[in-house]
Amino acid sequence: MNDRFLRACRLEPVDSTPVWFMRQAGRYMPEYRALRARYSMLELCRTPELAAEVTLQPLRFGLDAAIVFADILLPLEPMGAPFEFAAGEGPVIHHPIRDLDAIDRLRLVDPDESLGYVLQAIRILRSELQVPLIGFAGAPFTLASYLVEGGRSSQFARTRRLMLAEPEAWNRLMGKLTEVVRRFLRAQIEAGAQAVQLFDSWVGALGPDDYACSVAPHMRTLLADLETTGVPVIHFGTGNPALLDPMARAGGTVMGIDWRVRLDDAWRRVGFHKAVQGNLDPAVMIAPREVIQCKAREVLAQAAGRPGHVFNLGHGITPDVPPDEVAALVDFVHTQSPSLRSRRAVPAS
Ligand code: CP3
Repeated sequence: MNDRFLRACRLEPVDSTPVWFMRQAGRYMPEYRALRARYSMLELCRTPELAAEVTLQPLRFGLDAAIVFADILLPLEPMGAPFEFAAGEGPVIHHPIRDLDAIDRLRLVDPDESLGYVLQAIRILRSELQVPLIGFAGAPFTLASYLVEGGRSSQFARTRRLMLAEPEAWNRLMGKLTEVVRRFLRAQIEAGAQAVQLFDSWVGALGPDDYACSVAPHMRTLLADLETTGVPVIHFGTGNPALLDPMARAGGTVMGIDWRVRLDDAWRRVGFHKAVQGNLDPAVMIAPREVIQCKAREVLAQAAGRPGHVFNLGHGITPDVPPDEVAALVDFVHTQSPSLRSRRAVPAS
């Protein structure tokens, strides 16, 4: 069993830096596109054998962790907000949630009953994997933004309006999402997930004071509960480095760092008592290999061989990335990082 990833999450020394990529299974891979020609995205997610197969596809690159193939939006349907992935448009929620009545009609789901297919994929994977398995969910703000906007958004104006103008409705919505995510991640851990990641992908739309006031209380409840399970909880957000301090204060065993901040600055702010994950700019992955390696070397140099660094991109891998570059980068991180470690004179205390 390769346990570098879990050791790094726990700040233990490793033989080389563990590496995995957010959205590592997906459209940049020819094997994924071949399956997608036969099944829809939701069919892949809802058929445990297929979800397990897709999860395993990128492991041929030598990654140090697997992430179960699913989507952050899956709990929305059983909550009472059905959606589809419309070609070219991304997710479309059929009836956006914009007032207190609609919020009150949302259901608190029982994950065993309505998301059992994700749990079953996790059980199948645990019997096959030689690397740790990560479960995941969307964080409440990011899920709320999909429910309120009805799909993708750039400014999140409706979400921010609800948050600022109707705090009671907002807190009721966030409270329900927090409870659904809490149950779902606990169920994933019970099914065998060895770490979980919360994706707060769009929280960077907020400034630090609004985050502290309207999001952090819910995140504290959620993270405090998940941290009692004993498995590492990766707390990831993107878009606004000014949120790093309040997000780290809200909790998480490992902080996911986006690429808009230097990894060394981010880690200092988070504190070296917590592990960090990141943070190569995903756009670098379509540059020539020398550029990818130069930028990856900078990330590793900023991590400086300290225990507790999980190499990743600063956000998800994009569909235009050549698979060969993923394989080459995994090798590069594995072969570069021991040399950095041996050059480090004094171990971090
Ligand atoms: O990391 C993995 O390999 C696990 C799979 C995974 C998917 N979605 C599969 C997927 C994970 C971790 C996610 C998380 C997710 N989903 C996030 C958070 C991560 C991030 O990037 O911020 C978000 C915001 C979503 C919502 C979502 N799902 C969007 C916006 C889209 C459409 C994207 C697009 O460009 O069309 C999806 C669909 C989706 N989820 C795909 C995959 C592989 C593409 C589906 C397809 O094959 O057409």
